[in-house]
Amino acid sequence: MSFNGNLDSLYRQVIMDHYKNPRNKGSIEDGLTIDMNNPTCGDRIHLTLQVEDGKVTDAKFDGEGCSISMASASMMTQTIKGQDTETALKLAGIFSDMMLGKDYDDSIDLGDIEALQGVSKFPARIKCATLAWKAMEKGISSQPEN
Ligand code: FES
Repeated sequence: MSFNGNLDSLYRQVIMDHYKNPRNKGSIEDGLTIDMNNPTCGDRIHLTLQVEDGKVTDAKFDGEGCSISMASASMMTQTIKGQDTETALKLAGIFSDMMLGKDYDDSIDLGDIEALQGVSKFPARIKCATLAWKAMEKGISSQPEN
């Protein structure tokens, strides 16, 4: 996909929308809890997941961080809700490839996540974008069935 000026500003709007109106903000009581921070700035995420029968039935986050980290957390929770854990982990892998500027599997609808692809050009911000995804991967991988 070409990365032109209009697409850039559309992506910027999508990111700011998630930052200002975060989806799935909060905490799930009795959910699987993962706290993680970005070592480069100290910003943090508190992620809670509800996993039932191999499916992510709910996901909520809280925390403090820059617009990229919070928008990415909002997009991540939106994307993995309702997915099976295998797909959630696959999405985390795709997102990681995207951030590393690698070719990524676009056979799954990535929705708003694609708005973050420009972050790969700013190495200092990649850890911001991947924070929530790493927390999700850690949480799901800690489940006995994975
Ligand atoms: Fe801290 Fe982005 S600057 S998460």
